[in-house]
Amino acid sequence: MKFIIATIKPFKLEEVREALTAIGVRGMMVSEVKGFGAQSGHTEIYRGAEYAVNFVPKVKLEIAVTDSMSEQVVSTIAQTAQTDKIGDGKIFVLDLESALRVRTGETNEDAL
Ligand SMILES: Nc1ncnc2c1ncn2[C@@H]1O[C@H](COP(=O)(O)OP(=O)(O)O)[C@@H](O)[C@H]1O
Ligand SMILES: [Mg+2]
Repeated sequence: MKFIIATIKPFKLEEVREALTAIGVRGMMVSEVKGFGAQSGHTEIYRGAEYAVNFVPKVKLEIAVTDSMSEQVVSTIAQTAQTDKIGDGKIFVLDLESALRVRTGETNEDAL
């Protein structure tokens, strides 16, 4: 299993969620975060406002997936979240050691 952590522009959340649901993703975590990337000292437009500060609002997605779905999930997020402007975000893929569905006791892929 893989654990995918992605940051996207907040206005892209609904479109990304729909695209992921369409390819069979059944659960995810979503949080509002702030961050910066390579342009940390520069400005980035967010909803028309210029942030001359280091931290820009982003949405973080965390998704546990089977190995076989991992690449498709990454490419779907990448295609859907892309605006071609700076700050489109990043996607990290980690090995996931185990998963447990608390209600049933199912483990690993059965728990996703
Ligand atoms: N090296 C990193 N480690 C962790 N999170 C990062 C990293 N780089 C970027 N991020 C996260 O991704 C968001 C978007 O980064 P982005 O501006 O698209 O990257 P870059 O400017 O490097 O191309 C940042 O606001 C931050 O939340
Ligand atoms: Mg950037």
